Amino acid sequence: METKIYKIDSHHIDMVKIQEAADIIRKGGLVAFPTETVYGLGADAMNPQASKKIYAAKGRPSDNPLIVHIGKWEDVSLLAKDIPQKAKKLSDKFWPGPLTIIFHKKEEVPKETTGGLESVAVRMPAHKVALELIRGSGCLIAAPSANASGRPSPTLASHVAEDLGGRIPVILDGGEVGIGIESTILDLTEDVPVILRPGYITKEMIEDVIGEVKMDAGLIASDSNIKPKAPGMKYRHYAPKGEMVLVEGEQEKVIAKINAMTKELQKERKKVGIIGTDETASRYAGDYILSIGARDDEESIARHLYRILREFDELGVEVIYSECFPAQGMGQAIMNRLLKAAGHQVLEV
Ligand code: TXA
Ligand code: MG
Repeated sequence: METKIYKIDSHHIDMVKIQEAADIIRKGGLVAFPTETVYGLGADAMNPQASKKIYAAKGRPSDNPLIVHIGKWEDVSLLAKDIPQKAKKLSDKFWPGPLTIIFHKKEEVPKETTGGLESVAVRMPAHKVALELIRGSGCLIAAPSANASGRPSPTLASHVAEDLGGRIPVILDGGEVGIGIESTILDLTEDVPVILRPGYITKEMIEDVIGEVKMDAGLIASDSNIKPKAPGMKYRHYAPKGEMVLVEGEQEKVIAKINAMTKELQKERKKVGIIGTDETASRYAGDYILSIGARDDEESIARHLYRILREFDELGVEVIYSECFPAQGMGQAIMNRLLKAAGHQVLEV
């Protein structure tokens, strides 16, 4: 199958292209599209055959449920059985935006979309192209991140083409995404809501709106037997091809340690990648040094994270050393993704 890539300018949206893509969705096909977090791979959420195509194109395990993307608050009632007050409050504050809410699902929502679960994940994305596609199709759009299963999430249309080119008919190219890591997932089916995946919307921001919220125990435990509740969080996602190690400690010690380890591996002719920051990158000695962003601007770090992991894959590095970041605010989401990419290998110095 030939994959068409349509550049769409968010400020002057080409509605002819959107309608063509919307038609594909209505007929049960797949379209990749930009959201504010990462690119998604969309299909009609209420059509089981369409959802199945998503799993096939990504090579995704069928027990890993999809997020349903909606264009207006009223759509929640098409999907969710009970809609707690807290959901409306969160929607008023954060939708459209990078927050996914889990509800008890209605009978009509196909099990193919929810990976066999009795709950459904819902979010209203804050990207004009995504919203036009959803509204134009008249469908609710199930969409996981548009990467091949096991690869870092796509933050550029070219990432989608790398992974899914030839497998899907259309990619809507809206340029680089704004946030760069996936939405925060909040489970509202529990008495005390639980964060299943940290993201741009932090625990503190949610607690300001609805009161107490917990972190899923499976997220905090690094190597215990406690399983994360979001099925997707148990997979070693976001995995670069090289072995990755995070180095934690005081900045000067981290730099010295990474430089020393790199030198050792270079003796064995190993290709080593180093993830530094704008503040530290010039302090490293190595062949493949990339800055992930500025320490004093954690949003820039989130935005570049997946792109850097892909760049190291392309360079063919065999080992990646990375600095760590304070796990507060959005730093929680950044460290969650880095730890997963590193398979929780952390070296304390
Ligand atoms: O920012 C995002 O959320 C992006 C964009 C495209 O919207 N989407 C995304 O989808 O990250 P995906 O499929 O890559 O990640 C969805 C996560 C998985 O870990 C999945 O297991 C979890 O959400 N999930 C979905 N439905 C769930 C449910 N009913 N209960 C628990 N976890 C659920
Ligand atoms: Mg994903």
